[in-house]
Amino acid sequence: MIYFDNNSTTMLDPKVLDVMMPYMKELYGNSSCQHDLGISSQYAINKSRVQISSNLNCLPENIFFTSGATESNNIILNNFKGGCIVTSITEHPSVYETCMHMFKSETCNVQFIKPKSIFGCFAINEIENVLKNNNVSLASFMLVNNETGNINVDIDNIIELCHKYNVPVHTDLTQAIGKIKIDFEKLNVDFASFSSHKIHGPKGVGGLYISSKYLNSIKPLCFGGVQEFGLRPGTENVPGIVGFGEAMSLTCNDIDIHIKNMDYLKSELRKSLSKFSDESGFNIMYFTDRIGSSPNTLFFSIAFNDLDMNDFMNYMRENSICISSGSACNEKDRKPSRNISTFGFSTQMSLSSIRISLSRFNTLDEVHKFMDIFKKYYKK
Ligand SMILES: Cc1ncc(COP(=O)(O)O)c(C=O)c1O
Repeated sequence: MIYFDNNSTTMLDPKVLDVMMPYMKELYGNSSCQHDLGISSQYAINKSRVQISSNLNCLPENIFFTSGATESNNIILNNFKGGCIVTSITEHPSVYETCMHMFKSETCNVQFIKPKSIFGCFAINEIENVLKNNNVSLASFMLVNNETGNINVDIDNIIELCHKYNVPVHTDLTQAIGKIKIDFEKLNVDFASFSSHKIHGPKGVGGLYISSKYLNSIKPLCFGGVQEFGLRPGTENVPGIVGFGEAMSLTCNDIDIHIKNMDYLKSELRKSLSKFSDESGFNIMYFTDRIGSSPNTLFFSIAFNDLDMNDFMNYMRENSICISSGSACNEKDRKPSRNISTFGFSTQMSLSSIRISLSRFNTLDEVHKFMDIFKKYYKK
């Protein structure tokens, strides 16, 4: 099998599983209990918090464990109900749909900004106009787009601008961690969301960063427990949290090497696709910026080749290739991608889009095998 769908989820690193196993077998204590097993769980949670905070350059108390980036995003956005949120139209559904819901239920005014192009640059003056003309309470802009892989290269300017207007900034780092070095002190963002299963950790665990300035101002969405300093009550997923900490360390320890390797595979893939396109007349339109994009993602459309996309995806499946035809959340209902349709591309273009997302575990051999199968399909 060739797994090229790492923006949907990633393989659990076997080293991560190793550190989780004792917490599923023998060390099953509830961290709220004062006996040995409870204390070992408390210790394990604290260790993971330190692993995460030290790798992202913040204090352990700035990190909260949640069930995933969706929950982290929801906690922050819901805390700013009643105000005005400025965000982008190309955010992940866990931000976009949450904002839409708050907007439609009239619990929040939301100003959606459209990037200048699918490659993700923003007109900073447009954001400034919103800040000037609305009582903005929060800005939320992701760092790396889950579908296109394009990097929001304006993030530093957006944060600086919002702070000039005393507006806190949230960023969704779910697709950025492991692909870009994150340093919270340098980034100077106020809130950030991220997820374990995108970095070879277990599913069902996420992280929320809250800067020291806002530590006491964010309220929980649920009540009835003191876990995670009352912000996220409920018995902790200790094995998951332990795995998340280890996954973060393994991802960040050799990040330069991982970035270089993924980038190399991605450029080989793009080169091979473009060569095939030149030689055979097969049309490819790239939605991923050549430079300002994540080292692991290539998103493109193969419309204009008279292909049946369902047939193409079935062929890939029959050949044990895991790729995505757009973001995982759109896969089942096959709605045109918001990222593509926002910029005026046709539905056909959108429905014929393919996302290849690599990880540090992929190899050049897999890229070559994928290309062979891809070419065979076109020639059949
Ligand atoms: C950018 C982004 N944000 C949030 C999420 C949701 O993450 P989780 O599955 O941890 O809830 C995803 C998952 O695809 C994502 O790509």
